[in-house]
Amino acid sequence: MTFYVVARLDQLPEDRGTRVQVGTEAVLLIRTGNQVQAYQADCPHAGAPLEQGAVYQGQLICPWHKGAFACDSGQLCEPPPLANLKRYRVDIRHDDRVWVADQPMADPVVPRPADPRRFVVIGAGAAGAAAVATLRAEGLGNNLTWIDKEVQPAYDRTALSKYVLAGEMPPSEVPPLLEPEFYREADVQLLQAEVLRLDPGRRQILLADGQCLDYDAALLATGAEPRLPAIEGADLPGVFMLRSRADAARLLEQARPGKRVAIIGDSFIGLEAASALRKRGLMVHLIGRHQVPLQRQLGERIGSAVRALHEQHGVIYYAGCEARALVGEGQVQQVVLDNDQRIAVDLVLFGTGVSPATTFVEGLELAEDGSLKADASLAVADGLWAAGDIVSYPCDGRSQRIEHWRVAQQQGRLAACNMLGEQLSFSVVPFFWTYFYDQTFEVLGHARRWNQIVFEGEPEQYRFIALLCFNEQVESVVACEYPRAMAVLSQRMQRPLSRSEALELIQRTPE
Ligand SMILES: Cc1cc2nc3c(=O)[nH]c(=O)nc-3n(C[C@H](O)[C@H](O)[C@H](O)COP(=O)(O)OP(=O)(O)OC[C@H]3O[C@@H](n4cnc5c(N)ncnc54)[C@H](O)[C@@H]3O)c2cc1C
Ligand code: FES
Repeated sequence: MTFYVVARLDQLPEDRGTRVQVGTEAVLLIRTGNQVQAYQADCPHAGAPLEQGAVYQGQLICPWHKGAFACDSGQLCEPPPLANLKRYRVDIRHDDRVWVADQPMADPVVPRPADPRRFVVIGAGAAGAAAVATLRAEGLGNNLTWIDKEVQPAYDRTALSKYVLAGEMPPSEVPPLLEPEFYREADVQLLQAEVLRLDPGRRQILLADGQCLDYDAALLATGAEPRLPAIEGADLPGVFMLRSRADAARLLEQARPGKRVAIIGDSFIGLEAASALRKRGLMVHLIGRHQVPLQRQLGERIGSAVRALHEQHGVIYYAGCEARALVGEGQVQQVVLDNDQRIAVDLVLFGTGVSPATTFVEGLELAEDGSLKADASLAVADGLWAAGDIVSYPCDGRSQRIEHWRVAQQQGRLAACNMLGEQLSFSVVPFFWTYFYDQTFEVLGHARRWNQIVFEGEPEQYRFIALLCFNEQVESVVACEYPRAMAVLSQRMQRPLSRSEALELIQRTPE
């Protein structure tokens, strides 16, 4: 191992990391007073340059999807990443020069005392993978079975509607959620199988191949299934939905440049798919119930800017309409709208929402939307927890279910700790991102009400930050091109935040 001199202490700011090169390694220096820590410079999630993130209240926050790490140890605090930062030795000599070693230190797993209980995680999506990574990081060494019905599960499904449909990433190259070394090192029994029945009373799981598994502690993380509306012709060939890698591969076989596709649904999935399929060269018709998409979540001005962005890129927009029927002989050929307009198409993609995948769970009362009702610890029965799109949990005196990638991971991590014996309660400010035509929109919080929106910048220029406020209180923040301010706010919003303090924080956090 060789040490290199890379900086002087007084050159290093404290509100962000500084990227340096140490031999062949890209390293991030983080200064706190006279102490300096050195970590890998690219985020272990999707490779964001961490120097563009923020250091705030003892955490380093990633600029892209707001993963967070402890500044003093590099330990993972918040996903999407599922691994700690690699750490390098630092030596500060008397002339205040900072020396850094060119090889990372080992990050050993400290084994827990042997736990005789049988652990099972069902579902290898966002929540399941985060739970398994946490169980492993906490030292659970054996007795863990991880079940999923997909052939190659545990991949980043958020890439499907952004890069895969655009033709920028083959379905087989969607990034895995855990590195190959994880599978080599972790003593996890992976089972490709569909769960047909789960009996919480007997703590028993029945698989489609007839196998029966007993568990002491299990996590349900089976996500959700796309909903196919009950309209005539919805079962015609050429009609698709999008949830899995296999769904995306099937759609891509027919989605050739020049084809006409109707996307039914103006939610995030429909809008992302419209953007991706335009990039791929299809003619896109977007049919949405609302005059302004996403108005309920983002407000009218931002929703209108989203619609304008799609129209500028050639999407043909049918606002305020619903599809009444699909028509065709052996293949879908037309969409009939509720105003009797007919659109000639080659393909149809439904983006009309999802239902929690809970049909196999016996004996538990479900919420109105079909989700499992958890308590604050995400427990749904003795020895049984739930995380991700499948679960409703108490929040501000009511029950809420959130369909966000990072929330599913946060729930998976917390449920895993509780499976091991902790007593943690789930409470986070949700974070969500979406991506159209190379613009990322970020959303913090889940505003149920607001009576004013304060803008810095212009949504119509796709460079803005907007505070959705109820009186003086910030309920949610939406932004484009403000990654550092959003990184700071992702931490600060965990506590109540006033409009004036939010504006001050934004001013103090230059991009
Ligand atoms: C195309 C797409 C793009 C998205 N983009 C974004 C985004 O940009 N940002 C964002 O915040 N959110 C996004 N989301 C939402 C996000 O992906 C979900 O909220 C998240 O995946 C929920 O995680 P989960 O673990 O609950 O479910 P999933 O990730 O769906 O995982 C569930 C797993 O359970 C398995 N399973 C289901 N039933 C069974 C069974 N009976 N037996 C065995 N295995 C079973 C499934 O095969 C699957 O692997 C997107 C969703 C989709 C579909
Ligand atoms: S790249 Fe850092 S959180 Fe996604």
